[in-house]
Amino acid sequence: MEELIAKAIDAREKAYTPYSHFKVGVCLKAKNGETFQGCNIENSSYPATNCAERTAIFKAVSEGITDFSCIVIVGGRENEKPDFCPPCGICRQVMAEFCDPETFQIILAKSEKEYKMYLLKELLPLSFVGDLL
Ligand code: THU
Repeated sequence: MEELIAKAIDAREKAYTPYSHFKVGVCLKAKNGETFQGCNIENSSYPATNCAERTAIFKAVSEGITDFSCIVIVGGRENEKPDFCPPCGICRQVMAEFCDPETFQIILAKSEKEYKMYLLKELLPLSFVGDLL
């Protein structure tokens, strides 16, 4: 866990946030052991911004990896220590596309030693998934 958190902290350094100055870094772990780092990437047209979680998930999926076990999220205001940073609704929905809600873990970390762990089903109950279509 400490290693995954360290990678999320490292990814946060790359966040491109000239507008919000709120920096998020993640480390997504695939079931095959591979990890994917991601950061938020903002845009002058605000809705074009991509969250850190989706950056990492889309990186992985575009490399052919679609089975994931957990994601570590580290976020907070620029030049401040990270606070617990829960994923936004859109990112939860994207997680639900690829991850088993019963087992996928979402870890919110302030530091290598201080973190909280949730299951996707706790953060996105009664989700709309492809089986319904
Ligand atoms: N942000 C993320 O990267 N992940 C989330 O789940 C919440 C929000 C980013 C988007 C934007 O760049 C900044 O945080 C402020 O909303």
